[in-house]
Amino acid sequence: MGRILQFSDIHFGVELREAVEAAGELARTTPCDLILITGDITQMGYRREFAAAAEWLKTLPEPVFVVPGNHDTPYWDPLARLFWPWRRYEQMIGHPANDHMFKAPDLIVRGVNTARAAQMRPNWSKGVIDLEQTRRAADALEAAPDGALRILACHHPLIEMIGTPMTGEVSRGREAADIFSKSGVDLILTGHVHVPFALPISIGDKCSYAVGASTLSRRNRGAPAGFNIIEWNPQEVTVTAQGWVGSHFEPQRVWNLERRGSERRARLRETAEASV
Ligand SMILES: [Fe+2]
Repeated sequence: MGRILQFSDIHFGVELREAVEAAGELARTTPCDLILITGDITQMGYRREFAAAAEWLKTLPEPVFVVPGNHDTPYWDPLARLFWPWRRYEQMIGHPANDHMFKAPDLIVRGVNTARAAQMRPNWSKGVIDLEQTRRAADALEAAPDGALRILACHHPLIEMIGTPMTGEVSRGREAADIFSKSGVDLILTGHVHVPFALPISIGDKCSYAVGASTLSRRNRGAPAGFNIIEWNPQEVTVTAQGWVGSHFEPQRVWNLERRGSERRARLRETAEASV
């Protein structure tokens, strides 16, 4: 069995301090294979916010894997946003903004950057995915050993989730989700909407799941602050959304997601080969 803690949207600057401290304490006392953070680690991309985030990250047990969100580029610095949008994030957080990867014998995680510091539409908080980066990540996921859990991590949900309080509107998101699903990805882990969810992606063999985490900030959107505990065995993945109840976390909702069996993996490979 494996376990991942997924934190998201901590928004240092407007973080919910007690919840962030309690989440750190849980991370230090809960054995897990990876702590994965799906973006928006700061609120405005200020140096002091990154410094606070880096201090907190230092208290967590390794391995830790972070991808950036739309709040992780300097909000008030147009020059930086245009020419080196992820420099501060990469220098202070210490993780690459693009093509991030984590590998263990039974787990592979690829990170893709869906956040942009500027784009040709008025709302820059929405997502964009680069299909070249998508294909590189999908190839790496596909090459993982049989039975390994394959995860794609990014900030914005690639497909709109019905019932969530806001949208990611990721340009090329559906196309990318299709590519990932054909590569045999098990989970696409995201943040951005600040509510937890776990749903099958209704393309491919429906054994790829979109999983979102709540926020650890004060920016609630109808769900309590929280995070996900993701556990897996060869048959299924269990996602437990933990919610902050004012003094501690409590399980709010549990999803059991059937994993793609070896028979289904073989079928997926046949379909992929037939479509070449
Ligand atoms: Fe956020």
